[in-house]
Amino acid sequence: MALSDLANEIIELDRLNMEAHFIASGETFDSARREAGLGSEIQEGAQFLQVRRSGELIAYLEYLPPQDGKFRIPSLQVHPTYRGTSILRPLLAQAAHRIGSWPDATLQTRVHSTNSKSIRLHSRLGFSHVASSDGRLVFTISVSALQAKLQTYSGLTQRSSGAHKPDDVNSNDPG
Ligand SMILES: CC(C)(COP(=O)(O)OP(=O)(O)OC[C@H]1O[C@@H](n2cnc3c(N)ncnc32)[C@H](O)[C@@H]1OP(=O)(O)O)[C@@H](O)C(=O)NCCC(=O)NCCS
Repeated sequence: MALSDLANEIIELDRLNMEAHFIASGETFDSARREAGLGSEIQEGAQFLQVRRSGELIAYLEYLPPQDGKFRIPSLQVHPTYRGTSILRPLLAQAAHRIGSWPDATLQTRVHSTNSKSIRLHSRLGFSHVASSDGRLVFTISVSALQAKLQTYSGLTQRSSGAHKPDDVNSNDPG
């Protein structure tokens, strides 16, 4: 798939999921701004781990290669229809595999302070809230701590009876 097609799908899923959080923060979701941001992130080497159903993008995780020992995760999105179906498991497992070559690095995310589902997920994954700015909370976790948490969790029962497998996940590069 051409990166421009993927970018359009990402912007549409972001809008669907994030518009209400932007409005709650007194902002508007600006597709052109996200498009420009995505363009810069792609230039920086952004990777997009994707899950598709019947060709449609239903979940993705975007990460940037580490700089100064820090990974940035600009976005993690699950289509509303697929939330609460364990779709995150293969996505997080694949992300953990990818970042495993940098055990001493940390991950950093920013979350709207109104986004209670995301805040709860960060807490369950063991992230620490380290700062707040512009209506966003900044969370961090070390790669090794996240991997340990995911390892423990992978043995527990999935809500969708194992319907989501690691080979569900593909990415924009063969790595
Ligand atoms: C936030 C969001 C990604 C959460 O996705 P979700 O499918 O609703 O997931 P839930 O909140 O039900 O979280 C539970 C899942 O998280 C994962 N999870 C939770 N704790 C975990 C842990 N300790 N270790 C590993 N995985 C864990 C599991 O996959 C778990 O589901 P499972 O137990 O059935 O496998 C989703 O609501 C969304 O896309 N929201 C809009 C976009 C958004 O806010 N993005 C920012 C996210 S940081």
